Amino acid sequence: MNRTLLAILFFILPAFSFANEVEVLHWWTSPGEKAAVSVLERQLNDKGIKWEDFGVEGGGGSKAMTVLKSRVISGNPPTAAQIRGKGIQEWASLGLLTEIDDVARKERWDEKLPPMVSETLKFQGHYVAAPVNIHRNNWLWVNPQAFRKTGLELPETWEDMFRIAPQLQKAGYIPLAYGREPWQASAIFESVLLATGGADFYRAAMVENDPEALTSKTMMKTFETMARIRGLFDQGSSRRSWDQATQLVIDGKAAMQLMGDWVRGEFLLQDKQPGKDFLCIPAPGTKDAFVYNIDSFVMFNMPDEQQKKAQQSLASLLMNPDFQIAFNLKKGGIPALDFIDDQDMDICARKSRRDFNRSMARGTLVPSTTHGMAAGERVQNVVSEVVSRFINDPNADPAKAVKQLSLAIKALK
Ligand code: BGC
Repeated sequence: MNRTLLAILFFILPAFSFANEVEVLHWWTSPGEKAAVSVLERQLNDKGIKWEDFGVEGGGGSKAMTVLKSRVISGNPPTAAQIRGKGIQEWASLGLLTEIDDVARKERWDEKLPPMVSETLKFQGHYVAAPVNIHRNNWLWVNPQAFRKTGLELPETWEDMFRIAPQLQKAGYIPLAYGREPWQASAIFESVLLATGGADFYRAAMVENDPEALTSKTMMKTFETMARIRGLFDQGSSRRSWDQATQLVIDGKAAMQLMGDWVRGEFLLQDKQPGKDFLCIPAPGTKDAFVYNIDSFVMFNMPDEQQKKAQQSLASLLMNPDFQIAFNLKKGGIPALDFIDDQDMDICARKSRRDFNRSMARGTLVPSTTHGMAAGERVQNVVSEVVSRFINDPNADPAKAVKQLSLAIKALK
């Protein structure tokens, strides 16, 4: 190849590939999540846009958020990033996000999304994020074999759970699979809080951060139940990731796991059938309620017109019904678009859709604290820290934890 041609390629190729690719920061790094990402990558490639993967290990996303901050501070934001809930408002208020109103208007997003979803995606009335799904957090994932073998009934309340746990342990099962990460502790806590106080109490404590709710007897009872939950874990449970905990249920070492429905993605990837090889039932005491989080992507301001176009194409793909169906068959959530027929979905997804609609009608749909939907990142982190320190220390005192949590939240106000 002659020198002039090389020089031309040197200048043209990077510009070409740069403009037609999107670098996306996310935390979908478990096997099931990776399978879902490849659906997105393939469908984007079909549109002529290359997916530059920037996956940051760590369920729940707190590591990903730290990496994102350092990239933005050093002037090198990705083209797009997975950001949820209140985080969208926090990033948008810094003036760093691109509005995607043009696509939203053209594709009539307002008509296609439930209002509680579209409100989450807007900043000062403008769309700055595109959703891919709705996850339910208050699920209990069950290995039915553990219940067949022991002849035990599935637990509907925490009292049921504490009653059956010794028999499960006797039969060699860990009652509840858990890895000692702060957000995993918080995921259990929010379901216990909901079971103890109901949806209105949950909102008062976690959305409004009402001091009376935070110091109430109901909060005390929640921590007392959390203290008893310690006895459901295996002694050796170290900092295992959520999907390693799921593997314990899949392998028949643990009977159950309380976790959001991304767990379904792990079961499905290993050819496990819902209703047969695994069951999804509401977390104890929460059958009439739904703790939600919405996965969504924001686009960072980019100087280049081609890049802006690629961002618009990405936003449009994320909201495409066929994409949302294919993606969530791997990811475990339900499409964020609410007109989608559920005939292609499995039994757990159909239950999720039904319970979402019912909870919305009953006023028992509540935003997840653990996943940044109920309050901003600082409250989310405080809850995770206080709750995980409490649950990981066998001697921690519920009354002290209630005090710590309310004081720490007060200090943020
Ligand atoms: C996200 C899910 C993800 C889960 C585990 C949650 O915060 O919303 O999409 O699968 O974390 O990493």
